[in-house]
Amino acid sequence: MRHGRERIVLRQPWPKGHGIDFLAEPITLAKQKAAERGLMATFLVMDALALKELPENFDSVIDSGLFHVFSDEDRQHYVQGLWSVLKPGGRLFLLCFSDAEPGDQGPRRVSRKEIEEAFTDGWAVASRWRESR
Ligand SMILES: C[S@@+](CC[C@H](N)C(=O)[O-])C[C@H]1O[C@@H](n2cnc3c(N)ncnc32)[C@H](O)[C@@H]1O
Repeated sequence: MRHGRERIVLRQPWPKGHGIDFLAEPITLAKQKAAERGLMATFLVMDALALKELPENFDSVIDSGLFHVFSDEDRQHYVQGLWSVLKPGGRLFLLCFSDAEPGDQGPRRVSRKEIEEAFTDGWAVASRWRESR
């Protein structure tokens, strides 16, 4: 949540939003931004690998820059957690570093094939994604 790009979650007509990060600082920042805008949102310091522990279910989940930090093994846990918090028919909006991104600085690159392999049983790719800038 560091850069607040999840602000789409905080806009109307979304009735409520939850945001998580395992660091306290981004959560503090997000709380401040939400308060400034008078928006209803719940922000939690929590590990995204523990999503199954969340008692709520959601229509949509936005992952902005998280998926690409995980190892192959953690990816599986993460995707299982996403499945557990999304309502049936829910949508995941996933923004991650593409393998079309040149250079080797920054996060791990993720290919379309990797995404398709990570989201198999029960998941459907409903949209396309931009391959490069
Ligand atoms: C690349 S930044 C993306 C920040 C923001 N979402 C954005 O789009 O600008 C990755 C964020 O994921 C958080 N993060 C990394 N691993 C995490 C985990 N296992 N659980 C929750 N947050 C995690 C980091 O603390 C960091 O704020």
